[in-house]
Amino acid sequence: MIGSHEPDLDNLLAEDRTFAPSNEFAANANFSADAYSQAQADPQAWWAEQARRLSWSTPFDEVLDFSEAPHAKWFADGTLNVAVNCVDRHVEDGFGEKVAIHWEGEPGDSRRITYAELQDEVCKAANALVSLDLQAGDRVAIYLPMIPEAVFSMLACARLGLAHSVIFGGFSAEALRTRIADADARLIITADGQYRRGSAVTLKAAVDDAVATPGSPIQHVLVVNRTGIDVSWGEKDIWWHELVDGQSTEHVPEAFPAEQPLFILYTSGTTGKPKGILHTSAGYLTQAAYTHHAVFDHKPETDVYWCTADIGWVTGHTYIVYGPLANRATQVIYEGTPNTPHEGRHWEIIDKYGVTIYYTAPTLIRTFMKWGADIPAKFDLGSLRVLGSVGEPINPEAWMWYRSNIGHDRCPVVDTWWQTETGAMMIAPLPGVTATKPGSAMGPLPGIAAQIVNDEGTPVGKGQGGYLVITEPWPAMLRTIWGDDERYRDTYWSRFAAQGYYFAGDGAKYDSDGALWLLGRVDDVMNVSGHRISTTEVESALVAHASVAEAAVVGAADEMTGQGIVAFVILRGTAAERVAADGAEAGEALIAELRKHVAAQIGPIARPRQIMIVPELPKTRSGKIMRRLLRDVAEKRELGDVTTLQDSAVMGLITSGLSGGKGED
Ligand code: WTA
Repeated sequence: MIGSHEPDLDNLLAEDRTFAPSNEFAANANFSADAYSQAQADPQAWWAEQARRLSWSTPFDEVLDFSEAPHAKWFADGTLNVAVNCVDRHVEDGFGEKVAIHWEGEPGDSRRITYAELQDEVCKAANALVSLDLQAGDRVAIYLPMIPEAVFSMLACARLGLAHSVIFGGFSAEALRTRIADADARLIITADGQYRRGSAVTLKAAVDDAVATPGSPIQHVLVVNRTGIDVSWGEKDIWWHELVDGQSTEHVPEAFPAEQPLFILYTSGTTGKPKGILHTSAGYLTQAAYTHHAVFDHKPETDVYWCTADIGWVTGHTYIVYGPLANRATQVIYEGTPNTPHEGRHWEIIDKYGVTIYYTAPTLIRTFMKWGADIPAKFDLGSLRVLGSVGEPINPEAWMWYRSNIGHDRCPVVDTWWQTETGAMMIAPLPGVTATKPGSAMGPLPGIAAQIVNDEGTPVGKGQGGYLVITEPWPAMLRTIWGDDERYRDTYWSRFAAQGYYFAGDGAKYDSDGALWLLGRVDDVMNVSGHRISTTEVESALVAHASVAEAAVVGAADEMTGQGIVAFVILRGTAAERVAADGAEAGEALIAELRKHVAAQIGPIARPRQIMIVPELPKTRSGKIMRRLLRDVAEKRELGDVTTLQDSAVMGLITSGLSGGKGED
């Protein structure tokens, strides 16, 4: 049942190290243990209390309406403006001079943006969008690097009741095109280029490509001049500085209903077509702000917060833009890669700004481990007080390394489980309350009802594993899949329909103390460096190549990236003949071409780590590819049960005739 990600059981059961918060940390923490009992006694009252952290134009009376399950409405009779909550109210409260963003560019340039300045920038951007005739409810695509304009753009959309669809800067023109079409976006905001590992690379070219498609709904392309590299210019193109800079800094915000769509964010599912996860305003913002406050123990007066995620992923939405800004945080935003110009860049930034809360991903922690503990040791990390992790299960060794080499055994480590769909954190320790175990996300947050159940939907006990489900609605839950409500029901609500549980798609188990451990996806979704990629999507990309007849893709355990993409391909007649005639070299060349092809179709993050050319694929009698066996091959394990194979000789052919190369990058 559980995918290849299952940690070693012995190792898991042996994990009895626990780390309780210091007395001092606990005494000053934003939440204490009674948060759990309070929330449990009356979950709706708990969420209403959290929602009152926001500033409402019309206060809500109704908390939750789940009468049309699985569609929830939260605080539905209230109205507010999300951008006002993230910016204007702080200025009104007298914090205009407080730094909102310490932005650090990859080449070493930087910008310091106060809340008053942020308000001006958001208002100017909002006025610019109004001048392009955008109306509340319209969709705006955003394809930007990690520059302040990304934050301004998202907040300008929120201010106007426009739904943004941020598309990660690493995605290809093709990925961009399908996402623009699916959301029917009228405007795209992009940049000429972005800095990547010390050089400026184009971003706009992909937009040009995507927008050139006949029938593209895009009417305008708003272009930030970030790198100054050459771009081609068309009639839809408008420079950001020409349109936005001259706008008025005055903009009167409108209040929107709590359920006004806030954003669509595309994520991989088990089919080739990405899912447009729809989030709405007040419930999302409530949980974003609450969890940021609770799980990071955030103190706006003294903390300097840094989340290293990209704004193109949900972590960037919730824990760079909405949660921290709603909580009046001072935060660092860094544009570039962690080893540019040197492998101590993150520690240098922490040292420079006195970062107190640092939130990153296990894949990066493992990379830092590989680079060596002597690198962070050269910097002053004494300001840090809370460390967070997100994106995939964190191995106990990585957790311990993080705690000792970055946190100097002083900072609580919070492992936070959540998803694009959940909108905000769901399972995580409270740093002032929970005695944490290395590698465990511990348990659901106050207000969240999560359980582990077996195949029949019955809760399992301590020491047992099963499927992770959420048994009650939560404010930041997705509202539907954009344009495909049936898929919303099928994907999340059909597996345990009888119980009415949300099916997260993850395996999990309780240890003997009842701590919760995540075990990875149970479906055909891979997790590569914390990024969700569907096996089907990569298979479709491979089969779209003229040389490929059939492809099967699996995620294989990978020391650095969590999972690596391993593809098995059957070649088409002529390509197969050519490879057979010209030998290994032709095979290697084709493999290199296929890897490049997938990167061009989906984006470099989907480039297979390894491609193996095989004569056959293992299939069941009903024709289903047995990925389990392919995973065994990819992870160099003894083959599991092959009795259901249609042709039992196939696996012999595959393992003996492997002609697959590992990629060089
Ligand atoms: C995985 C990222 C274990 C999980 C916020 C989930 C995790 C998927 C953790 C969602 C964690 C995320 N421990 N696994 N702390 N955090 N995951 O939508 O498989 O990009 O279903 O959201 O990542 O990925 P997504």
